[in-house]
Amino acid sequence: MFKEYAHSIIGKIEEKLEWAELATFVPNKKTPVYNWFYYKEGFSRELVLKILDMFQHDVSLPVLDPFCGSGTTLLACRELGIDSVGLDVLPVSIFASSVKAKDYDTATVREIYSGFRRKFEKLPSEYPPLMKRAFSKFALEDIAFLMRDIMKIEDEKYRDFFILALINASIRCSYARKDGGSLKIRKRQAAPLRIMFRNVVKKMAKDVKRLSFRDCRTGVALCDARRLELEDESVGSIITSPPYLNNIDYTKVYAIEEFFIRPKGLPPMRSYIGSRISEDGFLGLPQAAVSYFKDMEKVLGELYRVCVPGANVALVVGNGYLPGSRRLPGDLGERTFSTDVSGVVDSDVVLAYMAEQLGFSLEKIIVLNKRFALENRSEKVGTLRESLLWLRK
Ligand SMILES: C[S@@+](CC[C@H](N)C(=O)[O-])C[C@H]1O[C@@H](n2cnc3c(N)ncnc32)[C@H](O)[C@@H]1O
Repeated sequence: MFKEYAHSIIGKIEEKLEWAELATFVPNKKTPVYNWFYYKEGFSRELVLKILDMFQHDVSLPVLDPFCGSGTTLLACRELGIDSVGLDVLPVSIFASSVKAKDYDTATVREIYSGFRRKFEKLPSEYPPLMKRAFSKFALEDIAFLMRDIMKIEDEKYRDFFILALINASIRCSYARKDGGSLKIRKRQAAPLRIMFRNVVKKMAKDVKRLSFRDCRTGVALCDARRLELEDESVGSIITSPPYLNNIDYTKVYAIEEFFIRPKGLPPMRSYIGSRISEDGFLGLPQAAVSYFKDMEKVLGELYRVCVPGANVALVVGNGYLPGSRRLPGDLGERTFSTDVSGVVDSDVVLAYMAEQLGFSLEKIIVLNKRFALENRSEKVGTLRESLLWLRK
């Protein structure tokens, strides 16, 4: 049945490899405000604008991003004056998205910064082990010192603005590098943090004038996409990118950023898509993929519920490579829907199938990017796609 489905939608798969870079955060690195918080797993402003255009979105209805990350969808909607709602389970994502989506006054930022103490002094501070490994002793002293001044800012909106500036500056001075699903610590020469902070604040103060938002409402909240706290039939379009199958633990990768908003550390997070081990089979999928797709089925059900009839949904998804599910040559076991001999799981096709079972119709699968799945880092065993799944309710 699955094989038949995969075959039946071949005509709906098209390639737009010229959009490959737009599916990454790279273009945002140069875009004012979008680049206030570096989010390696994010997509770009340009991709969201292209999707809104493709959808001919009805501006009287809000756009939802249930995995909003660094808030790219929300900011693009704000530029066009479209109401939007962004949800995520990672507190620092919600923090960064909401700081970026507000309006600020350059003169106020400069005035607040001019009130910061110029004379640096050592302050007693306690840091968790990760912070001690990720920063020099001098950088940690600067963080304590700057944090003290920031905490004195009475206006919460501007206090948060400066906390985001401190996160941005600190990450640039840190020894930590994001490497797939983990943080790698390697000591290196880094600029003094207080100087980096000054430069970041200057740039952010200018950015406020470089990007203009139109009048509209932007809601941002902590929420698990498997249980959306939204009314039935309340959103006009959805533009999002869920975690991928070979999922990363965002709490680990963003542990340093999280420190600045919750210095006492994160409670263990159980709400990640596919983070549990599932014993049951599901759609003939390899065991390692079962809990991911079961979670995604719940998400798709929720997306269907909150969409108005006729709503368009864009899901940017990546196919996964599960070497454990690779079948041996000569293995005559039943070929599953989603994996071939290579161990590549075509998440776009599986999700399209699940979405259609729930009532959505598949408009297109637009392939944005293709790369090889590598075994032992060099043997090419299959092709991994990154795709834009376009669904309609
Ligand atoms: C691929 S990133 C989205 C990036 C975003 N498109 C951007 O441009 O910044 C996936 C996001 O899903 C969030 N996430 C993971 N599990 C979630 C869940 N159960 N509910 C809501 N968000 C979740 C992660 O914290 C992460 O921010």
